Amino acid sequence: MPASFSPIFDTASAPAAAISDLFKIVLVICGIILLIVVGMVGTSLIRFRQQTGAAEPRPFFGNRKLEIIWTVGPALIVVCLFALTARGMRQADPPANQEPDLIVIGHQWWWEIRYPPTGVTTANEIHLPVGRKFLVRLESADVIHDFWVPALARKMQLIPGQTNHIWLAADAPGNYAGECVEYCGVQHAWMRFFVIAESPEDFAAWLHNQENSAANPATDSAQNGLKLFQTLTCINCHSLRGVSVAANAAPDLTHLADRKILGAGILANTETNLFRWLKNPQAIKTGCFMPNLKLTDAQVGALTSYLETLK
Ligand code: CUA
Repeated sequence: MPASFSPIFDTASAPAAAISDLFKIVLVICGIILLIVVGMVGTSLIRFRQQTGAAEPRPFFGNRKLEIIWTVGPALIVVCLFALTARGMRQADPPANQEPDLIVIGHQWWWEIRYPPTGVTTANEIHLPVGRKFLVRLESADVIHDFWVPALARKMQLIPGQTNHIWLAADAPGNYAGECVEYCGVQHAWMRFFVIAESPEDFAAWLHNQENSAANPATDSAQNGLKLFQTLTCINCHSLRGVSVAANAAPDLTHLADRKILGAGILANTETNLFRWLKNPQAIKTGCFMPNLKLTDAQVGALTSYLETLK
């Protein structure tokens, strides 16, 4: 994605463009008002400053023409802004008139992503075919979160016990950054995600691969890692399709190695970082719900080599 001042100015979908355009119009109108006010104050300060020997200025009381102008003028601006805002809101938030294509569930402090017709579940990464509109249903597993991908859509809250909807679409391929924008606890800042917009063929290939169960361990070390995964407490919180799908308190790891980030954005998903994360997640993302299991380096190594095979 090209570097830009802000994704608010560099949008990649019609709803986000509607918000961006509204913002720019309001900015220009406010800028003109600011210039007029500053200009009038400046002119008054210079032209009507106190001068030695000058007489007191003549006071005057009431000016019907001026009063009409400064009442009608701002009223017209407000009506204009209201109409533009109503239009922008309609464009940015089309009605949710179908079954959702995607379900996003906010957790402290990560995102669960489900593709309902397929059973695919992933985390912190939304794949999207370019040019298609996805209806996203937003839920929360715990507290209020807020879903925002500035380049693609409006903000929308995730509220416990309630479902909200938002449309997500991208006109061009790219990785679009998203984050939680409602303070939701100690690791709120590390509740990030990516929307990966790709060609319909790449999306279909990705989804097809995601539908597979977790890969069988190929090496002794990976085999050992799978055993540890099942015997340590990992399996109580993480699902691994093909092994166990009982838990969703933490991200589904079926295709962990295919993802770009760990800990909802706090680390890039590399083998070294995965080792560090498993060794002591609390040293990396303090307060997150993954405990330090105090594993030996050999155990962490085996787990890492297994998880690295889960493409
Ligand atoms: Cu979730 Cu802030």
